[in-house]
Amino acid sequence: MKTHNAYESSCMTEIMGETLRPGGLRLTDIGVAYCNLLPGDTVLDLGCGRGATVDYLYRKHHLSAVGIDPSEKMIEIAKGNYGHAVFYQGKGEQLPFADESFDCVFAECSLSLMESLDTVINQVYRVLKDNGRFFMTDIYAKNSAAVIKLGNYSINSCMSRMHDLDMLRDKLQQTGFFIFYWEDYSQYLKELFVKIIFSYGSMHNFWHAASEKCINGDEFYRIIKQCNPGYFLMIGRKESKTLRCPGV
Ligand SMILES: C[S@@+](CC[C@H](N)C(=O)[O-])C[C@H]1O[C@@H](n2cnc3c(N)ncnc32)[C@H](O)[C@@H]1O
Repeated sequence: MKTHNAYESSCMTEIMGETLRPGGLRLTDIGVAYCNLLPGDTVLDLGCGRGATVDYLYRKHHLSAVGIDPSEKMIEIAKGNYGHAVFYQGKGEQLPFADESFDCVFAECSLSLMESLDTVINQVYRVLKDNGRFFMTDIYAKNSAAVIKLGNYSINSCMSRMHDLDMLRDKLQQTGFFIFYWEDYSQYLKELFVKIIFSYGSMHNFWHAASEKCINGDEFYRIIKQCNPGYFLMIGRKESKTLRCPGV
């Protein structure tokens, strides 16, 4: 059965514009400030989608940003819209960059879509310099026990793969990240839901349209509600292996 990529649907751009995530560029600015990024610093936008964040980081913050995304469609759009920027087609599970290449990695509403979270976190750790920052925003389930039921639907969306925050924190810490900032931004998700209902009449109609009628929008949204989704911002700092094991 074909799995539909919701983020490639025109419904998503209709509602969210060029950045496919709750909060748009507002949280990106917070990321730049809290990660203490300075002009010229190197940044990887992991799961860069249509490329707008890479362009914004370069134009507004004068950062040396590049983007990577596995979707041929997204990379084509990114290259078409922002010809001055550098985009790679590839996955977070296999980053085509040398060790310690970046001061910061941004993953805005993209980690939840990656098949092997452990591999991706290891890859991010590898490509970051010592003390490099990993800036994440994404959807999480306040009732994570219900998320498993969303796996039965043939749709790829951050909603169908919401994070269990405790599990994500554990994975990051075990890899060697020190989480120095976390904040709940569920208000941006609510804001997005209101916008969707205003345009589509109901969340059910939206999911029906965003999946090109591949899924039953009523059922899908009923389970989403059971998961009680929220939106988070988290920043981890790469601690060097030697600092972590002083006795070795
Ligand atoms: C919801 S969109 C967000 C895009 C962009 N960060 C933004 O906010 O506009 C999620 C993106 O993650 C990408 N993605 C999915 N699986 C991925 C993977 N394994 N590695 C990197 N990116 C991935 C998708 O192709 C999609 O463009």
